[in-house]
Order: sequence, then structure tokens, then C-alpha cells
Amino acid sequence: MNKKKFGSRGPLVSEIGMGTYYDIGWIILSRIGILRGAEDKIKALKAGIEGGITLIDTAEIYGSEVLVRKAIEGYNREDLFIVSKVWSNHLRREALIKSLNNSLKRLNTNYLDLYLIHWPNRRVPINETISAMEEMVDQGKIRYFGVSNFSLNELIEARQATKKYDITAVQINYSLLHRDPEKDIIPYCQKEGIAIMAYYPLGHGRLVKEIEKLKPIMEKYKKTPAQIVLNWLASRDFVFPIPRASREVHVKENLGASGWKLADEDLDYLDKVFPKPS
Ligand SMILES: NC(=O)c1ccc[n+]([C@@H]2O[C@H](COP(=O)([O-])OP(=O)(O)OC[C@H]3O[C@@H](n4cnc5c(N)ncnc54)[C@H](OP(=O)(O)O)[C@@H]3O)[C@@H](O)[C@H]2O)c1
Repeated sequence: MNKKKFGSRGPLVSEIGMGTYYDIGWIILSRIGILRGAEDKIKALKAGIEGGITLIDTAEIYGSEVLVRKAIEGYNREDLFIVSKVWSNHLRREALIKSLNNSLKRLNTNYLDLYLIHWPNRRVPINETISAMEEMVDQGKIRYFGVSNFSLNELIEARQATKKYDITAVQINYSLLHRDPEKDIIPYCQKEGIAIMAYYPLGHGRLVKEIEKLKPIMEKYKKTPAQIVLNWLASRDFVFPIPRASREVHVKENLGASGWKLADEDLDYLDKVFPKPS
């Protein structure tokens, strides 16, 4: 598994990550302590770590932090890059600190590598949330912070609210099926050295069904649809796809998205069949 710099200010992190959002039904059941398929999900995450994945994405809302905790048990904490997110109704200082402490407890760790604002909330001044994030960095509870689902303007506003530390990463919906971010936020982040975590990298599973379009590349490189579309993302500056890791067989397949390169003519072909936004 190749590693690359997590933005210009971040450490080296595996170029492919693992996501742990399952579905809304799973989240609801997790609230009453029912963790459907927990063993398989932990096994899948462990297979990813064994294969060299260090970047693991979770969130307080997902109900999956306890699974991540079990998956990372026995591994060197410093070798991993654990990301969690604070929900949008917890963006006041006190609420954010409480959410973070709860996430740390569920993950059984002293610190998060990255803490993200899950969604923007216009009712809470961004200065208050950013200042709380900076305070948490100073206390050693988080190493970096960032934002998710922010527009470019909201990201710029968040950066303007920083006093000591910059925004390290954004998390956005980005894949060959959803290239809109290439219009503004992606070039901005690449220019500013901000890491881009691509969620729905497999188009929430739809991209792996695009066999017709991917067939020539599959045949040329002997790779699967998932491996091709993840490789395409990981080959872009500062972009880190985080496909969902819930089945070992898929995680092992996704490890094969790293360590090879699409030729320029094949990148051009992908631009033709999955057009760039106009
Ligand atoms: N910040 C946000 O607001 C936000 C929103 C959504 C998601 N996320 C993060 O992004 C992660 C990924 O998003 P997602 O899970 O919704 O979408 P995704 O990764 O694009 O797609 C997940 C689907 O792809 C399947 N899959 C995975 N590997 C595969 C493979 N090699 N071959 C065929 N199918 C494969 C999964 O099936 P199996 O489960 O059977 O493996 C699942 O059905 C989440 O887990 C979460 O951490 C963040």
C-alpha cells in the first residue's frame, strides 16, 4: 500500500483509506447496542490494516467507533491515522468538547489524528467551533482538524476563523460519477495543500456496475472496477478515497487499487466516458 502526504502539512498516510458508515438502519440499531455483523466488519478493518491501510474514517453519528476500537486493538496507535467527526448540532464549544471526549472513550484512544466538522451549521458561529478545535489541538486531544460537506465559500470562511492552526483536510463526495468538486473546491485544496478525503468513492456502490465503460481498462490492467476507480482517485494530488470497509473480501480487493499507475491515454479515456464538469 503506497503512502502519500496528507496535504502539505500532514503526515504520510495510506493512499487508500477505509470508511465505516454502514446504513441508517445500522446506526439506529447501534443506539440500542445491536451491532449487526460486528465480527465481519472488524475482520474487514483488520484485513485493511494488515494490508497497510492506516487511514480509518468514522464519526460520532455512525455508531461504528466501537468497531474501530476493536479493529485497532493490538496495533501500534502511532502507525494509524484515525479520523472522527463531530455532528452539526454539537458545534458549540462545550458540546464539541463533550462529543470529542465521548469519541475518544468509544475509540479507547487519547487522541484523534483528525477531527472533522461533519456538516456546517449556520446557527453556530464558525469562529466558536474553530477556536474549540484549536484548543483541542493545544490539549493534545486532536492532531489536526478539518471540515466535511462545506462549500468552497464555507471552507474559506472556516480558514479565516483559524488563529493558530490551518484546516488540514476536507471530506467531500467525489468520484468518477460525481466530479462537480473539480469545478472549485478540489483545485483550491490542491493549491492550498489541503488533503481531500473522497467519500462515496465507489459512487455508493454504483461505479462497480459501470462494467461497459470500464471494460477496456479492466482488460488492459487486469484490475476490477473498484480497483480502477479507487486508483484513479488516489492518483490525484492530495486525494484519499475512503471506500466502505464492511466485507473482508472487498477490502482485500481494494488493497489492489494501490501500487500501479493508469497511463495518460487511459486517464483521457476515463475523462471521455465519465466527463469532467463543464
Ligand atoms: N462525510 C460525510 O458526510 C460522509 C457521507 C457518506 C460517507 N462517508 C464516508 O465515506 C465512506 C464511503 O462511503 P459509502 O460507504 O457510502 O460509499 P462507497 O464506499 O462509495 O460504496 C460502498 C458500497 O460499495 C461496496 N464495495 C466496497 N468495496 C467494493 C468492491 N471492491 N467491489 C464491489 N463493491 C464494493 C460496498 O459493499 P460491501 O459493504 O458489501 O463491501 C458498499 O455497498 C463511508 O463508509 C464513510 O466513512 C462520509
